[in-house]
Amino acid sequence: MKADLVVGIQWGDEGKGKVVDLLAQQYDYVARYQGGHNAGHTIIIGDKRYALHLIPSGVLNPKAINVIGNGVVISPDELIKEMDQFDDLRGKLLISENAHLIMDYHIALDKASEQNLGDKAIGTTGCGIGPCYADKIARSGLRFGELRDAKKLAYSILERYEKCSVPAPSIAEIESSTQFWQDRLLPFCADTTKALWEALDWGKKVLLEGAQGTLLDIDHGTYPYVTSSNTVAAGACIGTGLSHKEIGSVMGVAKAYCTRVGNGPFATEQLGEAGDRIRKIGQEVGTTTGRPRRCGWFDAPLARFACRLNGVDNIALMKLDVFDGFDTILVCSDYLDGSPVYKEFKGWGKISKIRVFDDLPVEAKNYVDSLEEMIGVKIGIISTGADRYDTIFR
Ligand code: IMP
Repeated sequence: MKADLVVGIQWGDEGKGKVVDLLAQQYDYVARYQGGHNAGHTIIIGDKRYALHLIPSGVLNPKAINVIGNGVVISPDELIKEMDQFDDLRGKLLISENAHLIMDYHIALDKASEQNLGDKAIGTTGCGIGPCYADKIARSGLRFGELRDAKKLAYSILERYEKCSVPAPSIAEIESSTQFWQDRLLPFCADTTKALWEALDWGKKVLLEGAQGTLLDIDHGTYPYVTSSNTVAAGACIGTGLSHKEIGSVMGVAKAYCTRVGNGPFATEQLGEAGDRIRKIGQEVGTTTGRPRRCGWFDAPLARFACRLNGVDNIALMKLDVFDGFDTILVCSDYLDGSPVYKEFKGWGKISKIRVFDDLPVEAKNYVDSLEEMIGVKIGIISTGADRYDTIFR
């Protein structure tokens, strides 16, 4: 068996949560491979809304085992808060002993670094992601498996606070935290690479869930305005321990337009009425930070680039219904001297909640077919609403 993969092909917030939730119904295991609680998925089922940051979106499939892989960075307090939304997750959640821990000093360092950068700030989520990955690479990080010895971990944490000159809580306070984390989280600690190998060897279906998006990748994104992990499909091998031979099909998730949170280049951004309208109708506000997202037209050359980088087999096009009522819709089809060249499309009335491709108005079908042609990859899923079932498969 091979593991299938879902990856964002824009700047994150593409709607991966909904896609993974939909697909997860057919999978036995769903694994996260990078990022931390900077990610935010909202899953809406009927009138229930779940906010997921660290736990894979398979948690809403009663059958699936959810894996937080070694490439993820974990804030214990955030994870516990998130776990509390669900009934007992024992037997449903495995957390890699090699995943790194985000501590409060990482968060303090993240915020201080942003402040120092002034108008050159990255616009991070302030979750401590960069400093935690920096410690990992500098070989001075703390790993999830260290929860096995709560007392020793407490002293290691205090030592790190002192090294980076962030005011530290008392050792008694740190010990009380590490004890609490041990009690709540240690039952989930596992060798997740082995668990995933065994799952594949036993013929189980595994889905790998990317966080953020391709254009925020530390190596291939719009550096330095990126996150601190490899968000691309190749990151899934590093972040889980599966080899490239064990990766099966890759689904790239894109919105029918582009958004970006934080600073950095965004050539198709619309600062005027069109951008405001997309933001309002698409409710484009960060799940993690509550920041309004920057909005603009679909960028086909960037989508093509992302599909090549990730080896995308199939695209899920999300939030097409946000364009309901637009007279015209633009798409960047090319770049000339660094500036976007736009193609204009006629809008449509209402497609919200349509679940069959042939029921779409001709203008919407034309928009989808044209994007497919410009990107050169099949669009297999189209989302026409927030609910799990407002989805077209083609
Ligand atoms: P960090 O990951 O918090 O270090 O933030 C680095 C950049 O990635 C900033 O531009 C963030 O806004 C962006 N970012 C991080 N996580 C997400 C996400 O889940 N969706 C969209 N943007 C994100």
